[in-house]
Amino acid sequence: MNKKTHFGYQEVDQSDKQKYVGDVFTSVAKNYDVMNDAMSFGMHRLWKKILVELAGIGEDDVILDIASGTGDISKLISKEYPRTNIFLSDINYEMLNEGRNRSIDESFDKNCYFCQLSGEELPFKDNTFDIITVGFGLRNFTDKDRGLKEMKRCLKKNGKLLVLEFSKPINPLFSKLYDWYSFNILPKLGSLLANDSESYKYLAESIRMHPDQEALKGMMVQQGFSECKFYNLLNGIVAIHIGYND
Ligand SMILES: C[S@@+](CC[C@H](N)C(=O)[O-])C[C@H]1O[C@@H](n2cnc3c(N)ncnc32)[C@H](O)[C@@H]1O
Repeated sequence: MNKKTHFGYQEVDQSDKQKYVGDVFTSVAKNYDVMNDAMSFGMHRLWKKILVELAGIGEDDVILDIASGTGDISKLISKEYPRTNIFLSDINYEMLNEGRNRSIDESFDKNCYFCQLSGEELPFKDNTFDIITVGFGLRNFTDKDRGLKEMKRCLKKNGKLLVLEFSKPINPLFSKLYDWYSFNILPKLGSLLANDSESYKYLAESIRMHPDQEALKGMMVQQGFSECKFYNLLNGIVAIHIGYND
């Protein structure tokens, strides 16, 4: 029998998940940035700035931004650290292409390279990157353990992984409010601004299926990352996980 996994709340064949996720991001690519601002009231910008702060980037670092999408994280790094080399990478052509066009339009293309790839199968040699970032991407992987293992392999010794992802709110009341917002408002916003409620229903569901803070930390430890820790943002709606390849 085919191995099963989840796509939002649906159980699907593991071999099909990548295609379903691909359809979501192909559908949202053109409206992705507008929707991100609307859904998070612009807060995703601050979360990404915090990630870059926590990354402790060196002037000449070689950086892999996995699931880079339209390039928000890479843009911040490129503007602040112009001597770094940044590899923007995404499995989805439409999302990567939005990022590439934007890098030219907004002049952050000088130190950026673009690769269409899966974060679960990185086509890089061992010990290549000083820093790997994944912003709101890991949730969509079919095999997160495999992705983490690949990231560890491609990090240099003492290299650092930073995962920015939705997580679990700490306060139960806040959690209820957030659930109401996610399942009532988000799909309506998607329908209104992007004519696409299904993709935003997937977003809300995929967040609930994603491992919580401690579980993700445990997965990183399991894959051999050291000094693993996380920072909760907005009461844990979002968390930044950090681990090192020692
Ligand atoms: C929510 S977007 C995040 C984009 C960007 N990092 C940001 O924070 O705005 C998620 C991205 O993950 C990409 N993605 C999904 N599965 C992936 C995989 N296995 N490998 C690489 N990218 C993947 C999607 O194509 C999409 O562009």
